Amino acid sequence: MSSAAGPGAVPSGPRGPQLPDFPWDSLAQQTDRAKAHPDGIVDLSVGTPVDPVPENLRRALSAVADRPGYPATHGTPELRAAAVSALQRRFGVTGVEPDAVLPTIGSKELVAWLPTLLGVRPGDVVAIPELAYPTYEVGARIAGAEVVRLAPGELPPAGTALLWLNSPSNPTGRVLDASQLADAVRAARELGAVVASDECYLALGWDTEPVSVLHPSVCSDFRGVLAVHSLSKSSNLAGYRAGFVTGDPELVRRLLELRKHAGMIVPRPVQEAITAALDDDTHVSAQRARYAERREVLRPALEAAGFRIEHSQAGLYLWATRGDDAWQTVDWLAERGILVAPGTFYGPAGERHVRIALTATDERIAAAAKRLGE
Ligand SMILES: Cc1ncc(COP(=O)(O)O)c(C=O)c1O
Repeated sequence: MSSAAGPGAVPSGPRGPQLPDFPWDSLAQQTDRAKAHPDGIVDLSVGTPVDPVPENLRRALSAVADRPGYPATHGTPELRAAAVSALQRRFGVTGVEPDAVLPTIGSKELVAWLPTLLGVRPGDVVAIPELAYPTYEVGARIAGAEVVRLAPGELPPAGTALLWLNSPSNPTGRVLDASQLADAVRAARELGAVVASDECYLALGWDTEPVSVLHPSVCSDFRGVLAVHSLSKSSNLAGYRAGFVTGDPELVRRLLELRKHAGMIVPRPVQEAITAALDDDTHVSAQRARYAERREVLRPALEAAGFRIEHSQAGLYLWATRGDDAWQTVDWLAERGILVAPGTFYGPAGERHVRIALTATDERIAAAAKRLGE
């Protein structure tokens, strides 16, 4: 049916990609219910940091507040060198070329645009974990590609152009060991696919030590492999929008070229804060200790209230079930003033789970534990 283009008619124009509904909007009712609790809401839904930005990172940001010129898309040489040495010190990653480090405006934008920037096309497959951070699917849809969800251990199908890995996982906290990562890299290479490993929770291992896809025990060269890093969680920099991508020098060079043309540039003060954050491990350990303590309070309280916690060996979330439908559990917790995310936000396989974030103050986590015991 064609619509008549009369005066005042809205031009139909080109259509954008078909995107899923923004998941958080559907939690409005439960948010209101949780807010009505006499002692206030404990918001464990979005994993947003609540602790202060470390003082040294704030100082670094403001030290270069008076830089009127355009910053470099590639970041400063100091930022690139700091990333190389942080990867080595913190995660035992060797062989990263400084020029193969590219700062990003947080990691979400890179996740959303990576398929497009790599030239993934309609007809290609983007393979993502069965339970996954929703932006992997969004990025594939922006590029017009087909999304295939892979169960743990399942190999990517023919036609895969990009394989996303995420260890430790959001939402499950599952960790892939070096041989599982190596298998995934091998399978992707056989198909000629790029592997992008989202490692934003790598510094937050509890029951196990997560491994980077760039670790020598996983791959001896970085051909076709990218590691995506974020400073949001380990350095409380979600508000600054701070991340970087590294790995295969040729892929990073191509991303840099496109991002230069497209104006995808990290502001200079944020580049300075990223550099300071990568040069200092003390604040990372301090933040890690805060989350470890919160986990020690929340996990037993949930178990005592009848929840089973699955995976959750690392990262910022407890993946929990009472065997009920996810939304029923979200409602049950909202009645107690605790807001969490239904597992279905992350894929159909999450229908009986909820994701509970550790990102609340000590006081709010203690309030949640108390309510669970009542
Ligand atoms: C798995 C995963 N990747 C990427 C991001 C994006 O983080 P940011 O854009 O703050 O770097 C998140 C945020 O929660 C995440 O959970």
